[in-house]
Amino acid sequence: MQRFDNKVVLVTGAGSGIGQGSALRIAAEGGHVFCVDLDQAGLETTVAMIREAGGEATGHSCDVSDEQQVKDCVSACVAHYGSLYALVNMAGILRFDDTREIELDKWQKVLDVNLTGAMLFCREALPHLIETGGSIVNAASTAALAGLPCGAAYSASKGAVLAMTRSIAIDFAKQGVRANCVCPGDINSGMTNDIEWPPTMDFELMPRIVSLSGAKGPEAISGVIAMLASEDAIHMTGEDVRVDGGTLA
Ligand SMILES: NC(=O)c1ccc[n+]([C@@H]2O[C@H](COP(=O)([O-])OP(=O)(O)OC[C@H]3O[C@@H](n4cnc5c(N)ncnc54)[C@H](O)[C@@H]3O)[C@@H](O)[C@H]2O)c1
Repeated sequence: MQRFDNKVVLVTGAGSGIGQGSALRIAAEGGHVFCVDLDQAGLETTVAMIREAGGEATGHSCDVSDEQQVKDCVSACVAHYGSLYALVNMAGILRFDDTREIELDKWQKVLDVNLTGAMLFCREALPHLIETGGSIVNAASTAALAGLPCGAAYSASKGAVLAMTRSIAIDFAKQGVRANCVCPGDINSGMTNDIEWPPTMDFELMPRIVSLSGAKGPEAISGVIAMLASEDAIHMTGEDVRVDGGTLA
């Protein structure tokens, strides 16, 4: 499949996990991928992997929660490649807290990166997506659909991403822009390898997180993300697609 032949796709969180998998998949389908992440080493790895496979990619370091950096990032993408066909917003952070002890700065950081970061990229990308009739794929989560143990901050951020995406979907449908979410669950990645549980975590709640068929790698969701970003999903907007191996089935 070459669904992105010479089309420009900006992928945030491209330095690791699902964002990296999405960047690789979209590049393999002919896309010119503008890879964005805070992690310079991860970015370099992703860009090198794409180029070694014969694809086209550029890396750009950016903190998605920094308004000026996001403005500069989207401008740099359009200056470099000339247009923008799809935005794949995968940058995110995860933390678990006992709600009785959440520190305000940690709560705020989760909202800043997961929610405000996604909003800033949507805001800056939309004028360009209107020109190309393009689309947005945002990272929500199973935590946007059902309770996540010790996940008040993360769940609030992802529930809000889903609500924001639906709003964008109806606001820009007449202008030909689509906006959808994926709701991943139990995908092996940087964030799932590095979990710190609060001492009060009730591990009997783990079935709400783990998939019925075992965790999968980012390749188990990157094809779904590519589909949503592409014209295969031309009649899908404001949708959330759960990719969790049946956890919430
Ligand atoms: N892995 C899962 O099972 C799962 C489940 C639900 C939702 N998600 C969501 O999927 C998305 C991808 O996560 P992943 O699992 O691949 O995790 P990951 O940790 O492997 O990748 C996240 C990437 O985001 C980048 N990032 C973090 N903060 C940033 C910032 N301020 N600016 C720029 N980049 C930043 C990190 O450097 C990293 O490369 C996230 O939004 C996550 O919340 C993942």
